[in-house]
Amino acid sequence: MIKNILITGESGFIGSHLLRCFVNKYSDYMIHGLDSLTYASNRIFNKELEIKNNYKFHQIDIRNREEVIKLFESEKYTDVIHLAAESHVDNSIENPLIFAETNVLGTLNLLDAFRKYSTGRFHHVSTDEVYGDLEINDSAFDETTSYNPSSPYSASKAASDHFVRAYHRTYGIDIIITNCSNNFGPHQHQEKFIPTIIKCILESRNIPIYGKGDNIRDWLYVQDHVDAIDKVFHEGNRGETYNVGGNNELTNLDLVYKICDIMVDKGYCLDNPRKLISFIKDREGHDLRYAINSHKINSELDWEPRFKFLDVLSSTIDWYVDYLK
Ligand SMILES: NC(=O)c1ccc[n+]([C@@H]2O[C@H](COP(=O)([O-])OP(=O)(O)OC[C@H]3O[C@@H](n4cnc5c(N)ncnc54)[C@H](O)[C@@H]3O)[C@@H](O)[C@H]2O)c1
Repeated sequence: MIKNILITGESGFIGSHLLRCFVNKYSDYMIHGLDSLTYASNRIFNKELEIKNNYKFHQIDIRNREEVIKLFESEKYTDVIHLAAESHVDNSIENPLIFAETNVLGTLNLLDAFRKYSTGRFHHVSTDEVYGDLEINDSAFDETTSYNPSSPYSASKAASDHFVRAYHRTYGIDIIITNCSNNFGPHQHQEKFIPTIIKCILESRNIPIYGKGDNIRDWLYVQDHVDAIDKVFHEGNRGETYNVGGNNELTNLDLVYKICDIMVDKGYCLDNPRKLISFIKDREGHDLRYAINSHKINSELDWEPRFKFLDVLSSTIDWYVDYLK
């Protein structure tokens, strides 16, 4: 085996896609997946990989320092790709503590175990939300933008990014950080925006939209994100940060309109689903706009999104319609 890699958060949305890519593409690597299997996870998506002999799963909570250290001591991972996190902003507003415990202290447990037993790279998967938000005409976040997180979720991710960088500076470990925009695609928990819209339309229920629906998000297809992680993990420069965006900025309302139109075109709903749109009280501290400048990853590593937004939005809708049947 050239590498013995631990992927944390492997049973979550992005983790399940990354795991499949690495297990299938790198048959000479041993890939271990770690997940505590919270409500946001689903092992079904990784079931087919269990017959592969370059894959092993561990149900471990990264908040459990002793278990994390024991795992690294016995498995001697070369590298880590760290995705395990509490990931839903609304939940972080209700219960910030678990976000600090998992996203900050859990990351610290992994960093300490890595520092002691690993020799390769610690790739930390983070979010563009650490940068705060933008006005409509501001230029997009780049890797030099100051951190200014708004929600307990983004504050916890920002803190974990800082610890990862501090471990590089202080202890000299090889780290790399990717900060990406909103992912979409199959396997995402139904609490998230796109699955919620699709489910509401299928069930003819109100589609809840915060405020006036004019908040802008950049949408990144999950497979494009996986390709970016693969590139950065293998070819990125030690200690660096790379922003990963999808070049698909849309207001929340425009996104809902697009999904409504696709679902009507495909015959997934009979009536005009736009009438289900229901504006609800805005989220506390709601960021107005996120936009990512991906120039660095594009120019240094030759990565850019390869999927067309409307094509993969449409195939994503097909996937959820089938999954939610
Ligand atoms: N989804 C996005 O749009 C997006 C955007 C930017 C960054 N990210 C980051 O990417 C990573 C993955 O996001 P996702 O959307 O796949 O999230 P997700 O919520 O779908 O998956 C997270 C996974 O982590 C696991 N987990 C949670 N707490 C754990 C703990 N204490 N110990 C072990 N495992 C635990 C969960 O069981 C789940 O399987 C996160 O770090 C997130 O901050 C996500």
